[in-house]
Amino acid sequence: MGSGPFLNCCVCVCARRSKEGLVCVEQILRDLGLDPSPEDCMAVQRVCQIVSTRAAHLCGASLAAVLRQIRDNKAVDRLRTTIGVDGSVYKNHPQFARRLHKMVRCLVPDCDVRFLRSEDGSGKGAAMVTAVAYRLAKQHAERQQVLDTLRLSREQLMEVKRRMEVQMKRGLALDTHDSASVRMLPTYVRATPDGTEHGDFLALDLGGTNFRVLMVRVRSGKRRSVEMHNKIYTISQDVMQGTGEELFDHIVHCIADFLEYMGMKGASLPLGFTFSFPCHQAGLNKGILLKWTKGFKASGCEGEDVAVLLSDAIHRMEEFDLDVVAVVNDTVGTMMSCAYEDPQCEVGLIVGTGTNACYMEEMRNVELVEGNEGLMCVNMEWGAFGDGGELDDICTEFDCAVDENSTNPGKQRFEKMISGMYLGEIVRNVLLDFTAKGLLFRGKLSERLKTRGIFETKFLSQIESDRLALRQVRSILQHLGLTSSTCDDSILVKEVCSVVSQRAAQLCGAALAAVVDKIRQNRNLNSLSISVGVDGTLYKLHPHFSSILQETLRDLAPQCNVTLLQSEDGSGKGAALITAVACRMRDA
Ligand code: BGC
Repeated sequence: MGSGPFLNCCVCVCARRSKEGLVCVEQILRDLGLDPSPEDCMAVQRVCQIVSTRAAHLCGASLAAVLRQIRDNKAVDRLRTTIGVDGSVYKNHPQFARRLHKMVRCLVPDCDVRFLRSEDGSGKGAAMVTAVAYRLAKQHAERQQVLDTLRLSREQLMEVKRRMEVQMKRGLALDTHDSASVRMLPTYVRATPDGTEHGDFLALDLGGTNFRVLMVRVRSGKRRSVEMHNKIYTISQDVMQGTGEELFDHIVHCIADFLEYMGMKGASLPLGFTFSFPCHQAGLNKGILLKWTKGFKASGCEGEDVAVLLSDAIHRMEEFDLDVVAVVNDTVGTMMSCAYEDPQCEVGLIVGTGTNACYMEEMRNVELVEGNEGLMCVNMEWGAFGDGGELDDICTEFDCAVDENSTNPGKQRFEKMISGMYLGEIVRNVLLDFTAKGLLFRGKLSERLKTRGIFETKFLSQIESDRLALRQVRSILQHLGLTSSTCDDSILVKEVCSVVSQRAAQLCGAALAAVVDKIRQNRNLNSLSISVGVDGTLYKLHPHFSSILQETLRDLAPQCNVTLLQSEDGSGKGAALITAVACRMRDA
C-alpha cells in the first residue's frame, strides 16, 4: 500500500463523517486491494480524523507563537492582522481550516486575525517579495544618504580641531581678537583653589533652564568642606525676552524670597554671580554682556555691566544690600569646584542648554590683559565657533533650519550643533524631512511634530537608553502625537537620535582635543595628564555622550591623558570659591 494515495484518502474520508463517507472509505480500501468490514471502515475514518485534527492544532499553535512575537515587536496591546494561506490540505480539507482558525483564536485571544486564501501565492508572491525588497532597499539607501550628511569622518573631526586651534590663537591675540569667532575672554581668575578659602557667600546662577539662589558655606583647614542651600526659581519666557529691568527686578525678588526662606532677611553677604553668557570682563567683578544666547533676549542689557544692572535692581528694591564680588561664567565655576577636589583640573566644560569651555592659559598668551607672569582662566565662548563660516562645510540643511528659526540666527553655530537647547530640534527637522519623503510614519505628518521645541533633548537621552525597550520608545513617540508609529519607525527614530548626539559628542571632543593639546604645547610637554570638570544636563543625562567624547579625545589628542570629572553643582560652589578667593585677596 503506497503512502501518497492513502493520505489523500484521509482528506476525502474525513470530509464526510456520514454514511456516504463510510461508503467512500470502503471504496478506497477496496481500491487498495483490501476487503474491509464496516468496523474496519469506521476505525480508518476515526484515525484519519485524529491525524488531521492534530495537524490543524499543531499548525495553530505555531501560528499563535508567531502572532505573539509580532504583537510584541509592534509593542501593541491588541494586534490586528491578516494571514495569507495557501496549500492543498488547507484548501481542500473541509475541517482543517475551521480547526486551525479556532485554535489560533483560542491561543491568542488578544489578536484579531483574518485568514485570506491566496490565489496563486507562489508566483504573485515571489514578484511581490522582490518589489517590497526593492522598495525597502531604496528607502534604506535614501535614509542613509540623509543621515550620512550628519556623520563626520575622522578627517573632518581633525579639521574641526585644527580650525578651533586657529580661532583660539586669533581670539587670544590683540589684533585679531575682535574678528575671532572664539572670543577667548579673560576672566581674571588667576589660580584654582588651594583649600584655604572660607566664609559664607551668596551665589546666583543664571543661564540654564532655571535660575537659582544659593547660600554657600566654605570651611577651610581640618573641617574643609562646602555646604550649600539653594532654591530654584523659574524664569518665564516673558521675563527672558522682556526688558532688562524686568529681568533683574525678578532676580532681586527671588533673592529677597530666598533670604526670607533661609531666615536671613537683611543679611549682607558677598555675592558671586554665575552669569552664563559671553561677558567682556575688565576685572573679576565686572562683566559687560556681549550678546545674549540660549533664548534670552531681555532688552537694554547687551553692552552693559551685569554687576551694575544687578546692583541697580537691588537699590531699586531698597530692602537689602549685596556686594557683587565676582561675575563668573558657569564653565569657570565648574572648573573651580572640580579643582577644589582635584588640583589637576584646569579645564571647565559645560554641555547643557548651551555649551562652552574655559581653561588655564599662560598670561603671556592672554594679550588682552597686561602682564606675562602666571596663568589666567580664559572663557573661550566656543559656542560661537563657526559664526565666521568655519563650520559651513559640515553644516546640514537641518542645522540651517534650526539656526534660522532661533532667536539669534547666524550666531552660536557650534552650540547649535551640540547643546541641549538644539539637539531635539535637529532630530525633529530630520524626522519632518523623512516623513515628507514618505520614509517614516507612513508619510503622515503629525500636527504636534510640526511644533517647534516639541522634541525635547531629554527625549533623545531617553530614547537612546539601552535599557529602553522599543515599546517605551513608541510611548515617547505617542506622547509626540505619533500614534500610528510602527516598530520600524521606532528603530529609525532611535537611529536619527543616535546619529545627531554622536555628532554632538564628537564635535565637543574635537574642540576639547584642541584645548588640551594647546595646554600641552604651552608647557612644552610630550605628554600631559589633565582633568576636565564637566557639568550640564545633556552630558549628565545622555547615556553615551561622555563615552563618545572620551573616545574622540583619545583619538584626536593621543598625547593627553584626560580625566573627565563630573561636577557636583559647579556653578554654585565654584562661584562661592571664586568669591572667597577674591574676598581673601581684597582683605589681604
Ligand atoms: C554661553 C556661555 C555658557 C554656555 C553654557 C553659552 O550659550 O554663551 O557663556 O558658558 O552657554 O551655559
